[in-house]
Amino acid sequence: MAAERDWVVAIHGGAGGITRDAPPTHEVQVRAALAHALLTAGAVLDGGGEAIDAVQAAVVTMEDSPYFNAGRGAVFTADGTNELDASIMRGDDLRAGAVAGVRRIKNPILAARAVLDTSPHVLLAGVGAEQFAAHAGLSMVEPEYFRTEERWQQLERARAKSTELPLAALANPIDHKYGTVGAVALDAKGNLAAATSTGGLTNKRFGRIGDSPIIGAGTYADNASCAVSATGQGEYFIRLAVARTICAEVEFGRKSLADAAKDVIEGRLAMLGGEGGVVAIEASGSVVMVMNTPGMNRGSLARGGEPMVKLFADE
Ligand code: GLY
Repeated sequence: MAAERDWVVAIHGGAGGITRDAPPTHEVQVRAALAHALLTAGAVLDGGGEAIDAVQAAVVTMEDSPYFNAGRGAVFTADGTNELDASIMRGDDLRAGAVAGVRRIKNPILAARAVLDTSPHVLLAGVGAEQFAAHAGLSMVEPEYFRTEERWQQLERARAKSTELPLAALANPIDHKYGTVGAVALDAKGNLAAATSTGGLTNKRFGRIGDSPIIGAGTYADNASCAVSATGQGEYFIRLAVARTICAEVEFGRKSLADAAKDVIEGRLAMLGGEGGVVAIEASGSVVMVMNTPGMNRGSLARGGEPMVKLFADE
């Protein structure tokens, strides 16, 4: 039997203009929610669970929290609706699942997992994804479940500021905050996994799909290189296939994960005008968290350790 190895999990709760001017209660609650996500994933891994189950568990807790732009607390489209995207991927056999543009699935990451486990497909969208999730026995909710007053006010501010079409406004997102959530993990058997979930961008055009459900853009995992979950302006992450590019630089470019992530996020993404960051983990268990924004809420936990949570631009 193969020897058990140390496990590690890392998460993000979004990047952007996340600074210390946030109300203190919000800071306390975001910190607690990130720690809870880490401990939930850590319990899965400590019990011998798989990396894929750990990243799923971490993301579910953040989807259920109103303090992140995923699940409950998702941002609004320009039409005043919530449209959610999520994806999940295994590093051992490269199987992946994703849902996009869903409005009634309580936990989109569970629907993504069901696509991975029980369908021959990788990405289901809209009503078809919702029908699939309902048939899989997942919790379905009325669209109002996702609404929070804070996100509604964010939309109102965006509408008041934006004199252009919502799509054009995406080049200069209101508030510069991307509260997408994600997790990457290495389990005791040496397998990697990644998961990402989001409500997208405030004031986005309805029907717009970001990077989070796109395997290779917002999410990627391959035991041969690394696991990556991204947060930021999805259009840029899709164009650069950010998650897969980082893994490819590790696998084929023989770069360290830290160098590969910096090259893509601080180099190529920034040069293109894109904002955001990633959390990533490699087979050795090294965790990398890189952003080109003023802040990124993030954390990690390794076997035998305490949750390490960092908000804003904390070192
Ligand atoms: N990164 C989330 C989005 O652009 O939808």
